[in-house]
Parts: sequence; C-alpha cells; structure tokens
Amino acid sequence: MIHFKLDSKTIMTQDEMKQAVAQEALNYVIENTIIGVGTGSTANFFIDSLAIMKNKIKGAVASSDATAQRLKLHDIKVFDLNDVKQISVYIDGADESDNDLNLIKGGGGALTREKIVAAVADKFICIADESKLVDIIGKFPLPVEVIPMSANYVSREIVKKIGGTVKLRDFTTDNGNLILDISDLEIVHPKAIETILNSIVGVVTNGLFANSSADVLLLGTPSGVKKIVGKVF
Ligand code: 5RP
Repeated sequence: MIHFKLDSKTIMTQDEMKQAVAQEALNYVIENTIIGVGTGSTANFFIDSLAIMKNKIKGAVASSDATAQRLKLHDIKVFDLNDVKQISVYIDGADESDNDLNLIKGGGGALTREKIVAAVADKFICIADESKLVDIIGKFPLPVEVIPMSANYVSREIVKKIGGTVKLRDFTTDNGNLILDISDLEIVHPKAIETILNSIVGVVTNGLFANSSADVLLLGTPSGVKKIVGKVF
C-alpha cells in the first residue's frame, strides 16, 4: 500500500483519490506496446498522468470519442482497434465493484466500446476511488445499450426477466444507440444477470463486467492505494 502523509486536518477528496490510482496505474503500463484506455473522470486523470511516458508506448486504443480526443490533446497516438492485434493492458474506471471485482460500468455511456477494448486486452486494471467498492453491486443504475427501435420492447423484457425499474437516459452513445438504466437491483448473481440481459433481442451490451471482469482493482483510499486482485495476475 502507498501511504500518504496525513495529519488530522488533511482530508483527501474523491478527485485526489482518483488521481492517486491513476498515477499508480502507470506501473502497469508496458513499454513499447499499445494500451487500451477507458472513459470517465478517473480515466481522464490516467490519460493526464500517461502523458509523462507517452514516448515509451506505441500508442493507445480509446474506448470513446472523448477519450480519443483527450489522448490526442496530449499527442498520444490513437489507434483504430481494427488496426491492432494486441493490447497489453486496459485501464479504466468503474461505477461499482464488489470484492470479487464484478463491475458495473457505463455511467458515462461508453460501456460497449469499453467492453470490446477490455476483451481484446491481455489484462484489465480497474482504477477507482473507495466509494466504488460495495458488498453487493446494483445500487448504481445498471446501463444497457440498446438499438433505438428496440428500447420499449427491451424495457418490458428487462422487467419481466430480472425486475428493477428501467429509465431511458437522455443520451446517444458514440455508436448512435440509446441507454436504458436499471435501478432497484441487488445483483447477487452478476454473471447470470449479464447473460440474461445479453440474450434480449435489441440489447447491444450491458454494463456488467462479470463473465469477464477486471484482473486488478486499484482502489484509492485516504490511507493509500489498495490493490485487490481478482483472477491470477
Ligand atoms: C464510463 C464508465 C466509467 O468508467 C465509469 O462511469 C466511472 O466513471 P468515473 O471515473 O468518472 O467515476 O464506465 O462509461
């Protein structure tokens, strides 16, 4: 664990914890390779930290247009995934994680591209502040990306198959699709729920990363960055 010098008056903000894990994630970047980069405020801190070693990597595959733009602002080369055979590591935030590193992602609406880049990468390092670690995921509304014409049908099927309350987000994804957010869930069997949601016609993907989850979670806490290991790493 990395320790911060804290006196009784020092309080770490959520952003400071995000910055700390973003900095720590640099240790997982493999030189001379192409890495995958996620989306959101924690991923943004990572991109800003990555700038310092931009000449040591070949470049990055971005999980969203916003991330691609930020990488380019730092003069980090952005690759199209179709031009890349291997991604050494994928680094991204999460909206919630349980202790087994089952994640809810997609608060920023980039879940589909995030899942694709994570699937290609050899390892997935998740970076988050301590507020994201929970006993049972589901308090954060679970995002589901859907083909626009299917939104109402998929909403009805979700309620029938797993329950919860479904709300259409006022948002269009980078892929031109819509997002349904499911609240009022307690996800005790994340792998099963992920599979059930993916089986509904019209669903592009859902924000559960359980069947293929993170390998490592770097968690920012006021007393330092904690490393939680999922599968063998
Ligand atoms: C975006 C995501 C993000 O990783 C997630 O929303 C966490 O965001 P932040 O780092 O801003 O808390 O899945 O689609």
